[in-house]
Amino acid sequence: MKRIGILTSGGDAPGMNACIRAAVRTALANNLAVAGIRRGYTGLIAADAVPLDRAAIRNTIHLGGTILETSRNPDFYTKEGRLRAAAAIERMGLDGVVLIGGDGTFHGASLLAADADTAPLVGVPGSIDNDVYGTDYCIGFDTAANCAVEAIDRIRDTARSHERLFFLEVMGRTAGFLALESGIAGGAEELVIPEEEVSIARMSERIQNGFTIGKKSAIVVVAEAETPGISFQIAREVREHLDLDSRVVVLGHLQRGGPPTLRDRVLGSALGVAAVEALLEGRSGCMVGEVGGALMCTPLGETWQKKKPLNENLRRIFTILSE
Ligand code: F6P
Repeated sequence: MKRIGILTSGGDAPGMNACIRAAVRTALANNLAVAGIRRGYTGLIAADAVPLDRAAIRNTIHLGGTILETSRNPDFYTKEGRLRAAAAIERMGLDGVVLIGGDGTFHGASLLAADADTAPLVGVPGSIDNDVYGTDYCIGFDTAANCAVEAIDRIRDTARSHERLFFLEVMGRTAGFLALESGIAGGAEELVIPEEEVSIARMSERIQNGFTIGKKSAIVVVAEAETPGISFQIAREVREHLDLDSRVVVLGHLQRGGPPTLRDRVLGSALGVAAVEALLEGRSGCMVGEVGGALMCTPLGETWQKKKPLNENLRRIFTILSE
């Protein structure tokens, strides 16, 4: 193994740069040259790469976003696109590729590995949604969750001052990890997550009870699920049951930016090292992750086909503490 490639794909996540930096340093320490593939699968198909040396990754550990840039490329879902990517990997002379991204990235990588006899592929989970099977946490989740908690704290100040109900919508696509953990940490009253059916009538009743026993505010953390902006509709439906002044805040892409937290820098660093070491050990078609504090390699196919469950105990804790 002489030369490897690194790319980031799908939604950017804070801590991706820490991961790129760690992978590059580990590769250089093992006498491997590194190509930074630009703009995810778009750059892979186009063989668009820049050399990554020590200077290229200097002073990047604290930066959000991804210095390699990223994309969501529909061409990768066509066989023709994937065969072009396989040909580009060969043309670039890569003996292995580290792919940092989420379930969509690993879906694409699994299809690529099935279509063509490419160089070994090793994935690293990077997604604020945290919905990748095979790791307790994905790079970027902690930073995004802390952003949501800060937003809840700020909203609480104004909610309490006006005795208002707020709906705060967080990202997470089809998973409620961001909503659940930020809801616990922010002391939210209610949670709307895609993993559960919601009864607007019962939720309204609980909110009303809270005000009756002396609460001065209520915050409902809503996971965006398949319909970003869904909180406006939920607020309207609650209004039919409750005569309370309410407001809606949609956090959106705010959660994806900003400097990575300590946890995301450490996780990104650990997994960047692990990914290159996995390639050096001859592994392929897997994703490195951390489960229960231990490093794990999970087949790429499982990472997006298996559903990562919410932590039931955390869900139980939310219910106890929100009453
Ligand atoms: O997957 C990360 C994520 O931020 C989701 O939480 C969100 O639904 C989606 O990406 C937004 O995608 P885009 O940046 O393409 O609008």
